[in-house]
Amino acid sequence: MKKQMLLVAAAVAVLSGCSGSKDYAPTAGTSGQEIFAKACIGCHGPLSDEELTTFWEVTPENMNAAYVAAKITQGSMSMPSFPNIKGAELEAITTFVLEHNKNK
Ligand code: HEC
Repeated sequence: MKKQMLLVAAAVAVLSGCSGSKDYAPTAGTSGQEIFAKACIGCHGPLSDEELTTFWEVTPENMNAAYVAAKITQGSMSMPSFPNIKGAELEAITTFVLEHNKNK
């Protein structure tokens, strides 16, 4: 039991230390590209202009707004979650990802 608690504490420390994703909240009207530059480029960049048009490799079956938006708000094993990106800004960054996807 004690060991489990330690593991949880370590996981929380790693997750919260690796980025400010939980704190990041774009102001209203922030564009998808601006959100990308602030919140995503650290792991998904930096990119040349050319790369910017083809950098995501979402597979065709996941190429939809529901998947991408869920990925952003919930994260996954190695991708942090961004619970404060929502509404119009979530739509903007989701559209940005889909428009710049390699498998489009
Ligand atoms: C701390 C690093 C990190 C940050 C910051 C980050 N990501 Fe990720 N992201 C990852 C990793 C690692 C993966 C691939 C592994 C996985 O899916 O868990 C990933 C996967 C993804 C995928 C799925 C790609 C695919 O081919 O299925 C999308 C979409 C995505 N990220 C969008 C974003 C967006 C949008 C942002 C900014 C709001 C962002 N990520 C910020 C690390 C990060």
